[in-house]
Amino acid sequence: MSQPPAWPRLRSLGLVPRLGVACLMVVIIGGVAASMRHLWNHYQNRDETPGLTLDDIRSAYRGLTTTSSLLASLQSGHPETLKPESRAALVAWITGPRLAEDYDNLDLGEKAPAEIIAANCVSCHSRKADAQKAGAARAIPLDYWDDIRPRAVSRKINPVDPKILVASTHAHALSMATVGLVVCGLLLMTAWPRPLIGLLIGLVGVGLLGDIGSWWLAAYGEAFVYVIVGAGAAYNGSLVLGAVLVFVDVLLPRR
Ligand code: HEC
Repeated sequence: MSQPPAWPRLRSLGLVPRLGVACLMVVIIGGVAASMRHLWNHYQNRDETPGLTLDDIRSAYRGLTTTSSLLASLQSGHPETLKPESRAALVAWITGPRLAEDYDNLDLGEKAPAEIIAANCVSCHSRKADAQKAGAARAIPLDYWDDIRPRAVSRKINPVDPKILVASTHAHALSMATVGLVVCGLLLMTAWPRPLIGLLIGLVGVGLLGDIGSWWLAAYGEAFVYVIVGAGAAYNGSLVLGAVLVFVDVLLPRR
């Protein structure tokens, strides 16, 4: 049997330095929690719907085209009562280049979108609609252009500017790698089983490279969006677990 390498053990330190290490681990765990919260605040509205979803990440690193909810609903056959020629006229309008101009264009007569919507939709999609008949549709009013416009446009959300990506990488790559190395180094000075420590060090490193690397590669492939999420979770999860293990180790009584 070969001797385990002679790393200094945190537990052999005095009470004061062990307390210091324990406090630093609490700060690191708090920092990770704050950066998760920041991630949520910063990205949740990128795709213009609340909550942090894969589309928020996708829109940040690859860009995203949101489909008009009006178009999606017309193409799904809603409402069943709409005549095919009216549906075709609305679809042609929404997918065409003259959204605002043609909305209530008098030259279009009964084929004007405003007329079709007034005749076929507003009986349900209005703040004034009969609650029994309209149900949830009252919450999606289509009375005015201001109601309709945000549901009619399909928007292209551009990915973040490469300059911002450089700034973000410069700040995150160095700080996250440093914190990772520190926690990994301290883990090696604990009494936890070596295979567990080895696994965590592996996950911290592979996770961080996978995460930051994929920020840059996401433009070239959809799969990297998933790598950002998975590798980011691996890095942050192992970092926090590592910090907890160090914290527990330094506070256990000296043997
Ligand atoms: C008989 C009532 C009725 C009529 C008429 C009607 N709708 Fe609806 N519509 C609904 C209801 C109910 C919902 C579902 C609301 C929900 O589930 O949140 C809905 C949902 C929608 C949505 C939201 C879909 C989504 O998931 O975001 C759009 C857009 C929509 N309708 C457009 C129209 C248009 C355009 C017309 C006319 C061409 C129309 N509706 C006519 C009742 C109606």
